[in-house]
Amino acid sequence: MCGIVGYIGPRCATDVIMDGLRRLEYRGYDSAGLALVPRAGGQVHVIKRQGEIETGLQRGLQEDPPRFSGAGIGHTRWATHGPPSDDNAHPHTDCTGSLAVVHNGIIENYFELGQALREEGHKFRSEVDTEVIPHLVETHRDAGADLLEATMEAVRNLRGAYALAVVESGKGDDGEALVGVRRESPLIVGVGEDEYFLASDIAAVLPYTRNVVILENGDFALLTRNGYAIFDESGQEVERPVEVVDWDAEDAERGGHPHFMIKEILEQPAAWVAALQGRIGDDTVYLPELEYTTGIVDRLSQVYLVGCGTSYHAALAARPQFERMLGIPARAEIASEFRYADPALGTDSLVVFVSQSGETADTLACLDLAKQADAPTLGITNVVGSSLSRGVDDVVFTRAGPEISVASTKTYTTQLLILDLIAGHLGTTRGMREENAQRMRAVLAHAPDLPGEAERLLDDQEAVLGVAGYLAPWEDAFFIGRGLDFAAAMEGQLKLKEISYIHAEACAAGELKHGTLALIEQDIPVIAISTQDHLREKMASNVEEVRARGGWICLVTDRPEDRTAAIADAVIPIPRTAEVLSPVLVALALQLLAYHTAVMRGCPVDKPRNLAKSVTVE
Ligand code: AGP
Repeated sequence: MCGIVGYIGPRCATDVIMDGLRRLEYRGYDSAGLALVPRAGGQVHVIKRQGEIETGLQRGLQEDPPRFSGAGIGHTRWATHGPPSDDNAHPHTDCTGSLAVVHNGIIENYFELGQALREEGHKFRSEVDTEVIPHLVETHRDAGADLLEATMEAVRNLRGAYALAVVESGKGDDGEALVGVRRESPLIVGVGEDEYFLASDIAAVLPYTRNVVILENGDFALLTRNGYAIFDESGQEVERPVEVVDWDAEDAERGGHPHFMIKEILEQPAAWVAALQGRIGDDTVYLPELEYTTGIVDRLSQVYLVGCGTSYHAALAARPQFERMLGIPARAEIASEFRYADPALGTDSLVVFVSQSGETADTLACLDLAKQADAPTLGITNVVGSSLSRGVDDVVFTRAGPEISVASTKTYTTQLLILDLIAGHLGTTRGMREENAQRMRAVLAHAPDLPGEAERLLDDQEAVLGVAGYLAPWEDAFFIGRGLDFAAAMEGQLKLKEISYIHAEACAAGELKHGTLALIEQDIPVIAISTQDHLREKMASNVEEVRARGGWICLVTDRPEDRTAAIADAVIPIPRTAEVLSPVLVALALQLLAYHTAVMRGCPVDKPRNLAKSVTVE
């Protein structure tokens, strides 16, 4: 996700926009830029630089100081298309440089739009999907439409999710105008005293006004020196309520939430929409990013999925899909072990690297190992331009947006979704048994419903809060599961231990009787996960085993009506979905469980002791 700021009014637009961008930098920090409308008229003045604001754009302003302007737009970028660079930084302009656009979101059909615009003679300077927008607006401006009409016409060509701010060179004060557009990605209008703002979120405008209008999907906002007006997607002017915000600026960066972690947990429905956007449809997976891997998939004889921590757990959960769909052995490997295991890699070994940061030292060391063996490499990461994304043959981005909290949440669940799509795509390319094709069809049928199911889970946290209340006083806890539920248990224990400091451990439920059962004593908390139909009866026996020894059972299940739930001390219900997708929803519930437990224990949730967001050292 990126940060957008727009301003029109009596103040120095450069100062207002830079201040706003600094407050939105947590939304993305690959590059930043602004476009200003000189008061005397003439071209918009665009200054943009790769890197963080202080080292990039701020220096650009010193090198190329703009004249005073009372109107402009700014952007801080989280790259989704095209690596971080000056050219790929926003704003992007039309051919004449008389109008500029900044964008947050994804334009799915940018490639075909760009081809058509180039055929009409438009010149492009970047690799970014956004750049088609100013050229579309230009086309309609040239046809005589005003800025608002031209923007409305341009937007009708777009497919995807976007928030936009558009500005054009003024004809003196009265000619200046900003247009904002909202489609899925958030955008607000700040209403000040004879000054008006556009912003991706409230943090950017709080120092100037607490009066905000939350634009709705399809809305357009026109801001001029004389006021603002809002139009719906049919072009009809509409009234939207002005809300008064009582947050302080720091709260606003967390969206009013007490911690980034809960904000990022709650962002998961939107993150899943972004991760799936344009990648599934009509029983098919669209992953053009896998061009190289698709070309060599027929010669593969084994797959390794490699990661650390939570990313390793994503690899663990995805391993069965890769083995089933591709019909060859697939292994999930802890990077810090794999790098010293002298694996039998060759050109027939696909090595899949999972890393939200794309900078984890052990994972990158395994990438070197794979490349030395000429093994084909594939990366799944959240950071465009990361070392992993630049080192692999193919890379698929999770598009979860920046994740500030040390504990991985939305990047994990989007990893799971992307890995399932990749396994299905590669399996389909190789040809797979009908039973696996059916399994993949179930994934494609249910995946679009996941964001809605997540919303329902997030709207009713009562069961989770009750279990957190039981867990909080304990210093030990167990997570048990079988198959995909064991991978989910592995992630659940890590989430709990890393932010609440409770000594949690996961045990394959079938392994209990081989040792761990010795630790099950009266009332000790055991989180039992049961979502896999073919293992449900076995899990029921394991729950009975624990209960017979006095353990306290919380059953995480998509069948709360089952008899097993009747003997549990607590139940966390999970919406029913395709079995392969269950770990995505289970993860959401266990993230909430870990979060609420850590809060009850008074732990520093976003920055747990001894840990870092990206482990770039060995
Ligand atoms: C997970 O919550 C932790 N933050 C940690 O285990 C993390 O998953 C691990 O360090 C791997 O990081 P990566 O995904 O950036 O490679």
